[in-house]
Amino acid sequence: MTREADLSSSREGLLKHGAATLSCDSLDNYRSSSELDLDELELLEGQTSPRPRGEWSPSKRKKDNGKENEHKRAQKAKRKRGWLRSKTCWVVSAILLGGLLVLMGGFKMFVYKKPQPMDGLSPPWYPSPKGGTYLQWQKSYLMAATLVSKMSLVEKVNVTTGTGWASDLCVGNTAGAFDAGFPPLCLQDGPLGIRFADHATAWPAGITVGATWNKDLMYKRGRGLGLEHRLKGVNVMLGPAMGPLGRMPGGGRNWEGFGSDPVLQGIAAAQTIRGIQDEGVIATAKHYIANEQEHFRQAGEWELPHAISSNIDDRTLHELYLWPFADSIRVGVGSVMCSYNMVNSSSACSNSKLLNGVLKDELGFQGFVQSDWLAQRSGVASALAGLDMTMPGDGLIWADGQSLWGPRLTEAVLNGSVPIERINDMALRTVAVWYQLGQDNQTLFPIPLEGNPRPNFSSWTNDKMGHLHESTDDDTMVVVNNFTDVQGDGKNFHGRLAQEIAAEGTVLVKNGDNILPLSPSGGPEHTRDRRRAKYNVGVFGEDAGPNPKGPNACADRSCNDFTLASGWGSGAVEFPFLTPPIEALESTFDLDQVQITQVLTNDLPDDWSAVHGTQDLCIVFITSDAGEGFASWNHITDRIDLYPQKGGDDLVKKVAASCANTIVIVHAVGAVILERWIDLPNVKAVVLANLPGEESGNALADVLFGRVDASGRLPYTVGKSLSDYGPGGKIMAKPNGVAPQQDFNEGLLIDYRHFDANSITPRYEFGFGLSYTTFTFSDLKLKTLKPKTPLPSPRPNATVLPPTFSTLIPDPETAVFPAGFRKLKNYIYPYLDNSTIKHEPYPYPPGYNTAQPLSPAGGGEGGNPSLYDEHVSVSVNVTNTGKRTGKQVVQVYVSFPSDVADVSTGRKIDFPVRALRGFEKAEINATETTTVEVNLTRKDLSYWSVGRQNWVMPDGEFTVAVGASSRDLPLQGSW
Ligand code: BGC
Repeated sequence: MTREADLSSSREGLLKHGAATLSCDSLDNYRSSSELDLDELELLEGQTSPRPRGEWSPSKRKKDNGKENEHKRAQKAKRKRGWLRSKTCWVVSAILLGGLLVLMGGFKMFVYKKPQPMDGLSPPWYPSPKGGTYLQWQKSYLMAATLVSKMSLVEKVNVTTGTGWASDLCVGNTAGAFDAGFPPLCLQDGPLGIRFADHATAWPAGITVGATWNKDLMYKRGRGLGLEHRLKGVNVMLGPAMGPLGRMPGGGRNWEGFGSDPVLQGIAAAQTIRGIQDEGVIATAKHYIANEQEHFRQAGEWELPHAISSNIDDRTLHELYLWPFADSIRVGVGSVMCSYNMVNSSSACSNSKLLNGVLKDELGFQGFVQSDWLAQRSGVASALAGLDMTMPGDGLIWADGQSLWGPRLTEAVLNGSVPIERINDMALRTVAVWYQLGQDNQTLFPIPLEGNPRPNFSSWTNDKMGHLHESTDDDTMVVVNNFTDVQGDGKNFHGRLAQEIAAEGTVLVKNGDNILPLSPSGGPEHTRDRRRAKYNVGVFGEDAGPNPKGPNACADRSCNDFTLASGWGSGAVEFPFLTPPIEALESTFDLDQVQITQVLTNDLPDDWSAVHGTQDLCIVFITSDAGEGFASWNHITDRIDLYPQKGGDDLVKKVAASCANTIVIVHAVGAVILERWIDLPNVKAVVLANLPGEESGNALADVLFGRVDASGRLPYTVGKSLSDYGPGGKIMAKPNGVAPQQDFNEGLLIDYRHFDANSITPRYEFGFGLSYTTFTFSDLKLKTLKPKTPLPSPRPNATVLPPTFSTLIPDPETAVFPAGFRKLKNYIYPYLDNSTIKHEPYPYPPGYNTAQPLSPAGGGEGGNPSLYDEHVSVSVNVTNTGKRTGKQVVQVYVSFPSDVADVSTGRKIDFPVRALRGFEKAEINATETTTVEVNLTRKDLSYWSVGRQNWVMPDGEFTVAVGASSRDLPLQGSW
């Protein structure tokens, strides 16, 4: 690949291009936030811009309307912006013509005066470590080496490059290497089910799973996800999500992951991955890394030429954001998806420090790194930095057939810019994962054959017949949807498990007068007015009811209409059905004894009881929704505030004003501010039901009627205001530069750690949740399993060497389109048009030729194996002191010794007041006692020393606190 070719596809190339083609448009693009006028900022904030994904949304062919409307809104906004732009343009031109002085004076014209964002704040780490260095992968790598050695260069490129958005049936597809015997791969979202598929389960969202704190359920859901993906013919599932971690409670995609703590997130991710991969499907840990908000996440999508840069220090990276990825690699995750954003001013998908250094060397990742969709921003540079697969194959523009790899990668290998060893490693890693997961077993993963396409569904149509290559000029129609039902049946119907998870992920935070659980014959006996024939229950709020247009009425679920059971975006799926709360309430209450009045709107008159009658019990439903940045609803992607939406606060206040027994149910993507009514005496109970998935109503009824204990615990803090979360907790909704810079200044202090450090009393703390019974903790025992020593064992030497291949550069003739080849428009091929290869020196990045020392924290999957040695066993007795069986989550928090000086710099190291380090959920019968044990590893008891570049267990006394939440820790011990 020539220098020019590569530059034009890199960030630098974009800048150059912008500068070279000075036009009103480019001027517009390069203004920084201080130069944008208010109107435009509002538009930016409202995010009504047409998104490339929207243009290509399968909803056009599948389910329509929501997207259509958004498209219309977008067009209107675009016209408005166009007008603003042209107005701005003329003003700019006039000023330009008016004279250079004004420009120099910088009056609203800082375009070229303002420095462009700095590059290179992330250190270089080359060359890319090779896969195949651990015993547990050795067999797969050997088999993969045999297969890859049969591949031609173009076949290797085919394995690394997607065929283009909508070019094949899945959201991501590779074309395979047929001659060598490697099939095309189907990559499909996502974290809570199979996106764009029929007859598949819509599982509870990650945040609900986090709220269960139940490791077994986390695994089982993973298993269900894996099985369904496999039966639909998916090779690579694009989940679980563990970034965003939840730095900002309003982060639009927090709900896809498991909660705002690295340990909770890491355990849930690892359990999910184990489940998925035990079914043979390759899991994807995403989004790597620090993709904490949707605003400006992606170049272009937010009308800025650059993505946001998450600026993060080394210690925070290790102790917070990297933690769940390390746990995922430790359980052998097959793929990691690099994110859209920049990290320390270097695009996450071409950040050599993060991909080569941290992921592949330090964490010993043996699988392949795939880009998020169009997150790849450079050609050669990203290959050198450690990216192994580009998805969906398109380069800087959706579906134009112009990849940054594909033929360009072929050329880059042929002209020596990308070392042949790198392309070999890229292909090898992918094939090795395929063997490692057993996908060579053709009974489980049938090879796609002519006339029998795999997968057995199409992302682009609901009809039986459809195009195999939707975005191309191939009009042939074939059977693309087999409508294979993968939801299980009878006892194995996956909805049962989905219901169990949703119920356990429902958090009861207030239960005055023990109003819950309800009795099917009415409210609790003591609230019942026996003079009346029937007990009157009023059900209020749109969220209790079904969408008359069906649960999938809005494309990608990008609206908050009627009952809310999922956020929106690529993490959402088509509901096969969605049980609304009202249906479950109606079927659970004994209608001979209970009169239900439904008022399924948020628009309630003040004197509603005059209209609808006095109620003995009122159940009010409210919501708060958010989702992925390519779509928006009501100007929301990230939540800029955390209040209930659609007038939820007013609804609760109105109902509670005339109903002495009010129960509030909140369906939400995360924390919601409850302050406007939480202390009202009539608000007796509050249930945070998160995002329950398809069995919403049934799961809720299980909890409301006490068929199961209320055993969910908060996976995030519910503050009293957004400011309670600190300055770092706010979404950056207006760009602070042409490449927005977001400094993670709060370091480790996110969510409850911030509240604890600043003595802020939350409304409900992280880990909190009520049960229908009561528990006590006693008899805490800390046992030393291994003594304290500052450093882990030395990094173990590699026992296995990566396979080797010939390093001869192949004859370019072998890479040219075969004679008579029928090219489809926009389909991405690896072939070149001719064999002329230009040889120009490639400008390797500074530091490219300096081999990096291996990380002392590496040497095993997830890092140095000694980091996972267990040093302390924590055991505690938990007694159920109530009258019924219930479940308690035993939470273990660690406070580090005070006055720790760093081993290398001598500087004082600060720690969070306490940090969650482990948990176990136990089911205990009334009056019984169970002993629960949680072991703490070296890593749990260490901090990341930046100077030492290693985990260090400090000297001094650790406090281990055990209890029912981050602020209810009755037992403490020292170690
Ligand atoms: C999302 C990813 C998703 C991909 C494919 C991107 O917009 O960020 O999470 O896997 O699209 O749909």
